[in-house]
Amino acid sequence: MAIDVFWRIPTHGEPSSLRNKLHHRGDWSQQQGDHIVQKGLSGGHGDGFNNLDYIAEVARAAEISGFQGGLIPSFPMTDEPWAISSFLARETSTFRFMIAFQPGFLNPVVAARMTASLQRATGGRALYNVITGGGGPAQLWWGDVAPHDDRYARTTEFLDVLRGVWSGNSFSYQGKFYQVENAALPAQLLGQDFPEIYFSGSSDAALASASKHADYYLSWLEPFDQLRDKFDRVKERTAALGRKIKCAVRVDIIARRTEEEAWREVQRGFENLDDAARERYKRFAQQTGDSVGASRQRSNAPKELNDYRDFIIHPNVWSGLSLLRGGQTQGIVGSYEQVAERLDDLVRLGADAFILASTPHLEEAYRVGEEVLPLVRGHDSAPVLRAVG
Ligand SMILES: Cc1cc2nc3c(=O)[nH]c(=O)nc-3n(C[C@H](O)[C@H](O)[C@H](O)COP(=O)(O)O)c2cc1C
Repeated sequence: MAIDVFWRIPTHGEPSSLRNKLHHRGDWSQQQGDHIVQKGLSGGHGDGFNNLDYIAEVARAAEISGFQGGLIPSFPMTDEPWAISSFLARETSTFRFMIAFQPGFLNPVVAARMTASLQRATGGRALYNVITGGGGPAQLWWGDVAPHDDRYARTTEFLDVLRGVWSGNSFSYQGKFYQVENAALPAQLLGQDFPEIYFSGSSDAALASASKHADYYLSWLEPFDQLRDKFDRVKERTAALGRKIKCAVRVDIIARRTEEEAWREVQRGFENLDDAARERYKRFAQQTGDSVGASRQRSNAPKELNDYRDFIIHPNVWSGLSLLRGGQTQGIVGSYEQVAERLDDLVRLGADAFILASTPHLEEAYRVGEEVLPLVRGHDSAPVLRAVG
């Protein structure tokens, strides 16, 4: 297959299915506010588990069923990804943790040291999802008032400093956001692998920063032609700097034995939407913020909620996911074979890695790992079949 496939770790809590939102896994439930989803103790059935017990199971399931590792998202309603990584490292053996973080909220020298310690402790299993924030109330929640393009300029400087400190020499830097004199890692922490950088953001400012520093440019799913153009653009910009970049897609999938079963799952979720969910969707459609990526997502989602089929924008692509689980709008729905084919379409248009997710993440990690991943050809001409025995 020769492509990297990650799973998502649901540090935002999750219900036991997309159809039934009543029972929450562990003690962490998702309560949607206007723009910010807040943490709260479960409205679930008090099963005595906490969310850490649950995400440890998810990480192990993903590891067992063939995923390289997992994305640990960072939103106001999630657990804290750096801390969660240390915890998951002790619960798994090969699982790599992709830490989502906004560089602006950390000092880059401290981040270098945190990362080097983590790499040393885990045999180099950390990697980054560098995010730069979507503006609006969510950004203010973190106390960040920097305008959109300044946030990306800050991200670029942050990564300049982080790499500089990592290099092992005494490092000084005079930037707009960071000034550092003679910074260095302790000798014991030198020589670790620098984490791969997955970089998110669709704006011009994001592409400029990604082309300088990213190993993988990471996008949500978008209409395939649109995604191809974006991948081509980021590859051109990176080549102009004498570097190479790979591309990756973060996408939720609903895969079942047959296409009918998969759509039935969507249909049931759609028909079970309560008034509050419909209201939330309307607010989502008008959301403020300065994220170019988020408005590209919203632009492909219908405004009216009449029929789940109105949201089918491409064979096996449904743009109503934010209705069922919040967040990005587009996901892949179909039989195991169809989902694998769509992933291969994405490989053909430039993807080299995926971060997949499906609710509930525990059972679906096994299902997707066992039923879908073996059918994905990736860059090879024949499907990669899992050895039996
Ligand atoms: C795949 C992906 C994952 C993201 N994950 C997070 C996240 O965990 N937390 C967050 O606050 N923002 C997340 N974002 C949003 C980013 O903060 C990004 O900066 C935002 O899309 C605004 O950038 P833009 O205007 O360049 O599109 C994610 C975006 C993408 C594409």
